[in-house]
Amino acid sequence: MKKNKAPNSTQFVIFGGSGDLSRAKLIPALFKLSVRDILPRQFSLIALDRQHENRKDFIDDLENSLPETLPEVFTREEWKNFKSNIDYLKLDFNQEAGYRRLQERLNEIETASELPSKRVFYLATSPKFFPVIATGLQKSGLNNTTQPGWPRLVIEKPFGHDLNTACEYNDRITDIYPEENIYRIDHYLGKAMIQNILTMRFANMFFEPIWNKNYIDNIQIISTERMGIKNRGKYYDRAGALLDMVQSHLLQMLALIAMEPPADMSTASIRQEKIKVLCSLPELGPENVEENVVLGQYSGRKEGQEYIKGYQEEDNVRPDSSTETFAAIKLNIDNLRWQGVPFYLKTGKRLQTKNTKIFVQFKTDFHPSLRGADSPEANLLIIKVQPREGVSLQFNAKEPGSQDKIAPVFMDFCQEAPRELKETPAAYEELLAGLFRGDQSLFTHWQGVKNSWQFIDSLRKSAEKIDLTPEKYEAGSRGPEAAKNLIQSESRIWWDRKNINRHSPV
Ligand code: BG6
Repeated sequence: MKKNKAPNSTQFVIFGGSGDLSRAKLIPALFKLSVRDILPRQFSLIALDRQHENRKDFIDDLENSLPETLPEVFTREEWKNFKSNIDYLKLDFNQEAGYRRLQERLNEIETASELPSKRVFYLATSPKFFPVIATGLQKSGLNNTTQPGWPRLVIEKPFGHDLNTACEYNDRITDIYPEENIYRIDHYLGKAMIQNILTMRFANMFFEPIWNKNYIDNIQIISTERMGIKNRGKYYDRAGALLDMVQSHLLQMLALIAMEPPADMSTASIRQEKIKVLCSLPELGPENVEENVVLGQYSGRKEGQEYIKGYQEEDNVRPDSSTETFAAIKLNIDNLRWQGVPFYLKTGKRLQTKNTKIFVQFKTDFHPSLRGADSPEANLLIIKVQPREGVSLQFNAKEPGSQDKIAPVFMDFCQEAPRELKETPAAYEELLAGLFRGDQSLFTHWQGVKNSWQFIDSLRKSAEKIDLTPEKYEAGSRGPEAAKNLIQSESRIWWDRKNINRHSPV
């Protein structure tokens, strides 16, 4: 939430410039920032990789894919302007010579420009390269941090494979750059409604006084996907839903929902409060993991003429893999505000819909005369993250025309993004704009990442110990049956579009 200005001149170096992430999200997001005229005035992009032979190959490839990625924004003229600032170096991250070439190239560009440049090194690579690249940058002197906050090092998720590797990589990275230079990406923090959570909570009188165990019955944080693992079998089979979605995106949403009011809206204060929440996550041991966690894995299904592959049939996945593609977790945050309020997290691939929502369900301590079989429904606050953005508040009102019938009604706020901002990399655009301004509140702090790892690591180890295997669910379904039981056993239901307004959950 810092209001610094972007520098006038920036050199943006992408390690893994030919990879999927760069081509599908990162470069399109930079292109859109260029169209919106919010890139630094002098901007140069150097992509580093081994996949393309030379700059021409790289540019040709982008020229083919960008119009498809950004059909509403791409124009030949904008592209001509943007591509003139792109360079490509074919290099091996393991070899020192490559870093020397990079250093020379950066110096040449800087000398040819009017202004001294600020540098960004973006690691869009597998985490195993993080220490290698850190060493390369250090040996070639590219870690020179004489200007406070620069150069900036951006790191993609997943940050490591488990707690140990995350700590190891972090030690190596913080050897060469201080925390204030490091920007750890969690692209959910760039989503408009997630950025809106703190504003909603702290800029409205009517939420904060009731945002606690006295008024809230339970909170559900749900992010489901229709797609499978696409072509990411190699990565996903090692990661699974717990690492791919829960450790990062779902726990970040939870931290924003559950944190205490920060002393002010500075990055440091916000981060401090988020870290406290992640620090209060329970340890799910072998004795209680089964009653609080459900794992699932999608199986194949025929849809008309088409066959949707099951997870074990996907490319680069072991045919007997027990990696989870679905996870549902119940957890309690043991602090004064939330004692006794269950938080339910749910995520999965190949489910019925693509949907990310947060449901805050309030208690139903209505007037005694309204209790009973026809008791009004619980109030519900729904934060809609995607595909549509907005907020709905379900409350009770007298049904028009009836004497005493009470029915739930909705108050809706829908946020429509301007047409030209609607294409996919919107979250990355926000994050990159924040990166240039130096707004670290949009990025995760090491301590928070470490606490999330501790939670997920202990959960995974406990699940392994008791042999908690994923339950199969059919592709396109609502997930494993056991997930329903996880919540129904407590007389609650998972909220989704279908059951809102039709069931009385408590
Ligand atoms: C990524 C995960 O971080 O988030 C993917 O690695 C997942 O597996 C994606 O599909 C979901 O992001 P979004 O923005 O489409 O909800």
